[in-house]
Amino acid sequence: MAENDSRSPNGPGDHSRRNFLRGSGLAAASAVLTSQATAALAEAEAQVASAEPQVLSGDVNLTLMVNGKDMSCVVEPRSTLLDTLRNRLDVTGPKRVCDRASCGACTVILNGDPVYSCTTLAVSCQGKKIETVESFDTGENGVPHAFHQHDALMCGYCTPGFVTACKAWLDRHPGKEPTLEDVKRGLDGNICRCGTYIGVFEAALAVAKNQKGV
Ligand code: FES
Ligand code: FES
Repeated sequence: MAENDSRSPNGPGDHSRRNFLRGSGLAAASAVLTSQATAALAEAEAQVASAEPQVLSGDVNLTLMVNGKDMSCVVEPRSTLLDTLRNRLDVTGPKRVCDRASCGACTVILNGDPVYSCTTLAVSCQGKKIETVESFDTGENGVPHAFHQHDALMCGYCTPGFVTACKAWLDRHPGKEPTLEDVKRGLDGNICRCGTYIGVFEAALAVAKNQKGV
């Protein structure tokens, strides 16, 4: 009797268990290949699109992921991340002091890296993870607590930026106990006009030591 004969003992088309499994396995494999190919195509298209300069004008609808939450607003294309956070999204931890990439008071963590938000375009931050001082652990092992314990602030204008730069350094060097030189290098994009550097460095060293469990 022919395999595909509808009179086969296993029913129409001889859909034995083995044939069924073989068929479903092929279907699954082709589905995986198809989804991989689709993902690769989408990635290639995204790379081409991001490589081409875009001209934005008028109001831009923006959604930024800030401290784990999607936050939406409308901005001009020229808006900085600092302006957008402070004036549109009410995230006021990052401070405006120099507004020209020289003091570090506006520092936020963008995809793990400390950046000056006063000279970063908000539209360039879509799809990236933005962390500000508002989201940091304020408990005993957190950086803000260490600044408090080590008297690392006076007027406080520079403090959110220092705390953020410190957190970024610690996140990027988990388990490492830094030397004073490491801390100085990690925080060298930040300036304190009140001269609280000794307290800031002590705080950074203390948090690293705590986190390492020494
Ligand atoms: S306010 Fe951005 S670096 Fe000073
Ligand atoms: S504490 Fe005043 S600028 Fe640093």
